[in-house]
Amino acid sequence: MTPELLNELNDIAVRMVAPGKGILAADESTGTIKKRFDSIGLESTEDNRRDYRELLFRTESAMKENISGVILFDETIRQKAEDGTPLVDLITAAGSIPGIKVDMGAKDYAFHPGEKVTEGLTGLRERLEEYHQLGARFAKWRAVIDIGRGGDRSIPSYSCLRANMHALARYAALCQEQRIVPIVEPEVLMDGDHDIDRCYEVTEMGLKLLYEELYDAKVALEGTILKPNMVIAGKKSDRQASTDEIAEKTVRCFRNAVPAAVPGIVFLSGGQSEVQATENLNTMNKAYADIMPWKLSFSYGRALQASALESWGGKKENVPAAQAAFAHRARMNGLAQQGAWTPEMENDA
Ligand code: 13P
Repeated sequence: MTPELLNELNDIAVRMVAPGKGILAADESTGTIKKRFDSIGLESTEDNRRDYRELLFRTESAMKENISGVILFDETIRQKAEDGTPLVDLITAAGSIPGIKVDMGAKDYAFHPGEKVTEGLTGLRERLEEYHQLGARFAKWRAVIDIGRGGDRSIPSYSCLRANMHALARYAALCQEQRIVPIVEPEVLMDGDHDIDRCYEVTEMGLKLLYEELYDAKVALEGTILKPNMVIAGKKSDRQASTDEIAEKTVRCFRNAVPAAVPGIVFLSGGQSEVQATENLNTMNKAYADIMPWKLSFSYGRALQASALESWGGKKENVPAAQAAFAHRARMNGLAQQGAWTPEMENDA
């Protein structure tokens, strides 16, 4: 890689984790956004999807102050607002960076019941070239790692971890070749009944393999962003960990596995509640800022949008209320990114 390309990628990555800022994951696939709209009793039409994304991207305070970048779905990066302005232009006008989800989803891993491997490498170079022309400066690829139920230690298998991390590395190298910063997302799911220590073990092993694969693929870490799960107990575990334990174990795990050259780590929310996701991020930044070589921020989907979606309910007259809800969550997470959030702030309108 030339020094110029490395600088270009590093500048983008550093902007993605600027102080007080993080990423809005608005890249729900057609199937996932349908599920979200079902929850408010709204039909998932192209216009409804456009209206919803438009209301988010037109929330000026959030987009200018707290959202450094937005991950889009293929449909959205090509869509125009009601008045004809490309949605991408709304994002860049606010000083935020457009990004794009490029994986084609997690598919069953042959002969490994219960495990998945993410696909989408075929034709990826050409797709990235087009996405760059459409304005994307970063991309996302999500690998999904499940943890076996009832103490079943055969899931995840070494083979499944290796296959997913290898695909992530091939994706990341192609992104960098096309002047796009790869967000590498190895998500260890919080479904299941495992405790926090099992999540630690699987997360650490996944990250060790990921950085080995990225090294072999000649990916420049200064031009990447990591999007991981927090180290946290499964939703069905009877031993739920406190925010202090989550923060301590997450930071310890990453210090052991994520090289210092990585500019930023942005968490997914993965099913945590909005306030939980904010509180956990805040605790890490408050207690451990001095010992972390990377910026720690957010790339939340549900934890930035849940209240906004509910307030909107698919009705035009609710747009201001939905925008206020989104702005509030963006501000709370912006504060958590700096370890400056307190629970009392949740009551500020
Ligand atoms: P959640 O924050 O809702 O987990 O979504 C983030 C994301 O982009 C998952 O790939």
